[in-house]
Amino acid sequence: AAAGAAGRAGARGYRAALCTQLAGPLQLRELPPRALQPHQVRVGVHYCGLNFADILACQGLYQEKHALPFTPGEQQPDCITCLLTPIHNVFWQGCRVVGVPGTTAMAEECVVDQKMLWQVPEGVSSEDAAVLPVTYGTATLVLQHRACVQPGETVLVTAGAGATGLAVIDLAVNIFKAKVIAAAGSDAKCELALQRGASHSVNYSRSSLRDEVKRLTDGRGANVAVEAVGGDIFKAALQSLAWEGRIVVMGFAGGKIPSIPANLLLLKNVSAMGVYWTRYQEENFPVFSSTMSSALRYCQEGKIHPHIGAVFKLEEVNEAFNHVLQRQSTGKVVISMQ
Ligand SMILES: NC(=O)c1ccc[n+]([C@@H]2O[C@H](COP(=O)([O-])OP(=O)(O)OC[C@H]3O[C@@H](n4cnc5c(N)ncnc54)[C@H](OP(=O)(O)O)[C@@H]3O)[C@@H](O)[C@H]2O)c1
Repeated sequence: AAAGAAGRAGARGYRAALCTQLAGPLQLRELPPRALQPHQVRVGVHYCGLNFADILACQGLYQEKHALPFTPGEQQPDCITCLLTPIHNVFWQGCRVVGVPGTTAMAEECVVDQKMLWQVPEGVSSEDAAVLPVTYGTATLVLQHRACVQPGETVLVTAGAGATGLAVIDLAVNIFKAKVIAAAGSDAKCELALQRGASHSVNYSRSSLRDEVKRLTDGRGANVAVEAVGGDIFKAALQSLAWEGRIVVMGFAGGKIPSIPANLLLLKNVSAMGVYWTRYQEENFPVFSSTMSSALRYCQEGKIHPHIGAVFKLEEVNEAFNHVLQRQSTGKVVISMQ
């Protein structure tokens, strides 16, 4: 497949999923090859991870707006790529790389800044590598850089069977040696989170998150809450914290951006903080890059195990979007170009 893609690249154009109308279905189009800047390389995409942010961007609801038409994943993609056209650096020729493209991502081909490529080590499958960039990158930032999770602490994670949720569980348990309470919207998702390393689970569609966390921690509460849903779930997670607890705002998958009653921070000496992985590209590239290289290393060492819930073909991209939007997905949803 790599050789086939290599033959196509730069010569006959390539297929891409385009958002031509906000909240409308994506269109598959053949695009002409893009011109390269000196620091860029052209890569053939084998797998591309689907992020919740891609869906929000195509609905016009993401914090960064794109001019139409655009290819989802332009700013925040997970791409596993096979390099096709080395520019200055022959090192990359034929390597399996994982990258964060600045242009078209949900496509058979994309253009990537050289510094946004990481070589995939032997022993790490291309599918696993495609899961790492946004999910494990964000989870590393949350646990290590923002919340500074300590061994033995209890981490509560919402949307716990989702792509980023399972990455949080994997890293918290296997790297940071914490205990995890996974909160999710169905019994099947709770069961999956337990299989992937969580000590306890709470189905927040039928029980009180706050009461359950209190019960599971003998009244103490969680030391860290990683929150991706927003609305009332955010408030319940904040109220579930222990003394000197930390809550990290990761996203608003439920669609409602919550407010924080400041008295809740005061009463238990709690800290509230945010995380935005992509922003570290500009603000602190060494930290951004280290989240990628450490995830690849942990994967190669067999310490972490990315979970792919479903693989869709490029022509099934609208089904893939609906699968996530309808809360059917678990783990990472991946688009295969093959
Ligand atoms: N800040 C960052 O840098 C960063 C990085 C990665 C992701 N995120 C954010 O983190 C969140 C999770 O992203 P992800 O890619 O890992 O997605 P995901 O968790 O795989 O999928 C979203 C999950 O959110 C939950 N959810 C609750 N209400 C929902 C609703 N009304 N519609 C759809 N889903 C709903 C569902 O889980 P349940 O059924 O279990 O509730 C669903 O499976 C998103 O808000 C995303 O934007 C932020």
